[in-house]
Amino acid sequence: MKIGIMVHSQTGNTLSVAEKLLERLLKEGHTAELKKIIPFKESDPRPEAVQFQAKPPVEGYDALIVAAPVWGFSLSAVMRAYIAQMDLTKKPIIAGFVTHAFPLPWMGGTRAIKQMVNLCHAKGLRVAATGIINWSRKDRENQILALIEHFTLTMEKEGLLCEKETPSS
Ligand SMILES: Cc1cc2nc3c(=O)[nH]c(=O)nc-3n(C[C@H](O)[C@H](O)[C@H](O)COP(=O)(O)O)c2cc1C
Repeated sequence: MKIGIMVHSQTGNTLSVAEKLLERLLKEGHTAELKKIIPFKESDPRPEAVQFQAKPPVEGYDALIVAAPVWGFSLSAVMRAYIAQMDLTKKPIIAGFVTHAFPLPWMGGTRAIKQMVNLCHAKGLRVAATGIINWSRKDRENQILALIEHFTLTMEKEGLLCEKETPSS
């Protein structure tokens, strides 16, 4: 079972969380990889206008973890465009998280996650876990640890960890 972590990150915050999550998933024995979503222009606020320099393909994964920053109280336009344009024949399980600067979830995070979930549902995808990291809070590191724990457990519960082969007697 293969997990793809698809990350949009302009200044590296979201990427740093995704890298820690990848490290943990690999340590737990998952097959996982991280791919960067890169737009030509970071500043475009409209998903329709986003053009991709790197748009990692989503085929071939049993689960996709999507991660992006909050921009203007919304999910980054880049991630909105990426999810809307996902070209899927099979439907992977989805998990997603956002990072944002302001200290409270309602200052962007909650709305961005709702947008992420709605976009996934519109494509018939089930969202198994979500998370929000409030970057400016003192307890950021604990939030990150809790998110990694939650996402790793979710991947396990969803049966994404292949049984280790036991030697036949
Ligand atoms: C254009 C723009 C708009 C932003 N809007 C918000 C916002 O509405 N709420 C918030 O909490 N943070 C906002 N931020 C801050 C980012 O969400 C935050 O720094 C995030 O962790 C950046 O992630 P990245 O380093 O992965 O790009 C904004 C940042 C940018 C560049």
